[in-house]
Amino acid sequence: MLNGKNILIGITGGIAAYKICELIRMFKRANANVRVVCTPNALNFVTKLTLQNLSQNEVGIEEFDLNEFKPEHISYADEADIMVIAPATANTIGKIANGICDNLLTSIACAFKKPVIAAPAMNCGMWENKFVQENIQKLKNAGYTILEPESGYLACGYEGKGRLCKLETIFDKTVEILNSKKNLAGKKFVITCGGTIEEIDSVRYISNYSSGKMGIALADAAYEQGAEVILVSTVNVERAYKVEMVKSANEMQIAVEKELNNADCIIMAAAVADYRAKNIADHKLKKTESNEFTLELVKNPDILKGLCEKRTSDKPVVVGFCAESEDLIKNAKEKILKKGCDYLIANDISRKDIGFSSDFNEVTILDKNGGIKPLQRAAKTEIAKEILKEIYG
Ligand code: CTP
Repeated sequence: MLNGKNILIGITGGIAAYKICELIRMFKRANANVRVVCTPNALNFVTKLTLQNLSQNEVGIEEFDLNEFKPEHISYADEADIMVIAPATANTIGKIANGICDNLLTSIACAFKKPVIAAPAMNCGMWENKFVQENIQKLKNAGYTILEPESGYLACGYEGKGRLCKLETIFDKTVEILNSKKNLAGKKFVITCGGTIEEIDSVRYISNYSSGKMGIALADAAYEQGAEVILVSTVNVERAYKVEMVKSANEMQIAVEKELNNADCIIMAAAVADYRAKNIADHKLKKTESNEFTLELVKNPDILKGLCEKRTSDKPVVVGFCAESEDLIKNAKEKILKKGCDYLIANDISRKDIGFSSDFNEVTILDKNGGIKPLQRAAKTEIAKEILKEIYG
């Protein structure tokens, strides 16, 4: 299953370190090459000799080896296809999240550019700690796969969330990542997300309830499948790929159109305001004596339609979304023709269990040849994969 794959296991100083002996055996049985690197504290829980015998390789602990020509952290990082840090203590997670490299393991992690899985294990109070959670979030944002700890009886005597997840979970995730097809490698995606923000004056704006979750899920899925991704976003999000922050429809249009000739696929998942204030006041508008207030609006550019009109060949593939609260398919059929895009993802925004702000969606994919494919309600992360599969097979 893992023939010829090079797995670097990083063990840190927690009681669950002893369990990693079995994980090494699982990887070896699947024909992987395993190298182990430990923090000095990990050796309080498991011996170097055991790890060496099981991995059939020298175990790395010290950062500087005088017999080595190349700095050790670089050669470890170069060799491995994936790094699996398990158990990952709060201490090591904190160091990696903040770029601290004070031992071989943290130095390797800092230099590592390939996928990293981290399986935290610690006391439940430590797991709930605000700073630990912030550090976990930083790692997630940087593209780390975090296998969350499980709840149960902890070695420290407490009951709660903090136990290392099952070894099978770590093994399966490693196999999944190493064997995942990078079928979008070499392709460039530009994906928009969030609701545009149209200023009225220095303190007020017009916007909508779009959370950006669907666009982010699409960008994550494309990136995981090897694509170069630019996410043009109105919501603040940190990712390993490029995120370009914009506010208004005009800014979004500029950001997207500058990639029109370079992109292989543009997905307009953003909820773009149809209108903006005709004049944006420099200062806060003051209340007047009148009981009425009229705000003059002008039409925003239709970014999606413009992209389809401006492209000079069938590249990029252009995908639109379609938010409807009634007559979903009828309106979607009209919209795909009006916009001229290759695919239109129709979703019913009147339903509370899907769409705006929800983690779930239920969509119908229309294509320019009249094809209609309904997808069942599922997590947006799953819907995103299905949409990419529909476009690229
Ligand atoms: N869109 C766009 N520019 C706009 C409005 C919408 O690029 N000014 C894009 C959206 O990102 C989406 C698609 O067009 O991919 C459809 O958006 P939707 O809100 O469903 O439709 P509208 O074109 O705004 O039409 P209506 O609001 O009348 O349904």
